[in-house]
Amino acid sequence: MTPHHPSSVVIVLFGATGDLACRMVMPAMFELEARGLMPEHWRLVGSAGDDLGADGFTAILRTSLEASGALPPDWDHVAARTRYLGGFFSADEPGDLPRVVAEVRDELAATSGSDPLVVFFLAVPPSAFPSITMGLGRHGLAEGARVVFEKPYGTSSDSFEELDALVKHTLREDQVFRIDHFLGKEGVQAIYTLRFANKLFGAQWDRHSVAQVQVDVPETLNVANRASFYEATGAALDMLVTHLFQVVSQVAMDTPFDLADPDSVLFERDAVLHRFRPLDVESDVVLGQFQGYRDLDGVHPDSEQDTFVAARLWVDSDRWRGVPFILRTGKMMARKAQLVTLVLRPEDDPLSAIAARPNTIEINFSGAGGISLGVTVKAPGPDARLSYGHAVLDLDDVPGGEPLSPYASLIDDVLRGDRSLFTTEAGLRAAFRAFEPLLGPDRPRPLPYAPGGWGPEEARRLVEPSGWMLEQLERVPGEG
Ligand code: BG6
Repeated sequence: MTPHHPSSVVIVLFGATGDLACRMVMPAMFELEARGLMPEHWRLVGSAGDDLGADGFTAILRTSLEASGALPPDWDHVAARTRYLGGFFSADEPGDLPRVVAEVRDELAATSGSDPLVVFFLAVPPSAFPSITMGLGRHGLAEGARVVFEKPYGTSSDSFEELDALVKHTLREDQVFRIDHFLGKEGVQAIYTLRFANKLFGAQWDRHSVAQVQVDVPETLNVANRASFYEATGAALDMLVTHLFQVVSQVAMDTPFDLADPDSVLFERDAVLHRFRPLDVESDVVLGQFQGYRDLDGVHPDSEQDTFVAARLWVDSDRWRGVPFILRTGKMMARKAQLVTLVLRPEDDPLSAIAARPNTIEINFSGAGGISLGVTVKAPGPDARLSYGHAVLDLDDVPGGEPLSPYASLIDDVLRGDRSLFTTEAGLRAAFRAFEPLLGPDRPRPLPYAPGGWGPEEARRLVEPSGWMLEQLERVPGEG
């Protein structure tokens, strides 16, 4: 079925008073409302443990919208579209949720003339997924609903399988939307069009032209305010098997059979995840921990948790056999950036021996995103001297462009029933299979690194001979 917007929707937000809901999910809903992309008739039902009352919740919502600049001018009107339910919802203790959802559905059906879509958004820790999912099934709420699960969807192969079995027991796959918000980023979505609508790029997108691909996501962020989360998770689980693997799948997927069909796109992204070779932890992974991490409140004084990971991943498909995908991310690093770089093979160019650097294609996937090309040119002047320059395209300069934040983009897809930018159980299973060696006894010990730097020196070994391209880039496209 072609994705389309429903005429009315009830969004039930679990974890409505939490950090994720306040910083990302609720502002994204109001971004869609401001852009005219929410259905005409909608209601938000917030659910969380705190006993706040309706006024307490609207106060939290207002603060969250003010902080993100998404407070609508008709606030009173909008606030009247929200309800709040305090107390946890679970399989054994449904509380008032089934009754409230039924009431809101009836109310919307009466005003809109059709049965509304119901979306359950689980902005809660993964430990709460099973009980809420079971509760939806047991209390008659699952039928016809769409259910959004935040990441991480399982923290190991075993916990993933347990959750998956439970979800399958309660929901059909087409009702399930597993979010990885990196897939909603404008720059990550741009990779698809860049490849499949431009021969200039599409024709180079394979092992014959590309020597290596770098996916580089350094962050300046500390983890002081989420130390216990980091102690339990670490950078590799938080970022590598999730966001970075998904970006690789977007770069490496083969051409979908039908470019406009979401299921076709999903199929190809999944297929390439099955081609990820399990990580060779001895030669291809470097973990790091920033100095000072062990002094944070909530961190064990001898903690061996990683706050940095660099990995060389091999994608054993016909298109990419022999091309390393080199991934890096960490907290407390020198700068924040989100960059894919394709380093092209110089060998076939007659002037390659004297060219200073290989050609590159860079895709910045932070903010509105940007694309740039590193090319060898003749330096203007009397001598036949070669130089190197960058052609830069900032995506927010593109005519008609109005970027959406990743969460707004993905919530819009949930409303339309378009699953092409979500993950599937088969894809996540394949991602865990490739990642699993990092959870075993051969996991390397994290090496210390200085805050404000580029991580352990040892990680440079993975990107030889070109080095990390981000560190050599004068201007990241899309960063003004
Ligand atoms: C989250 C991770 O999913 O993504 C964080 O848990 C990380 O550790 C964040 O900092 C990065 O997201 P963004 O939107 O800033 O790119």
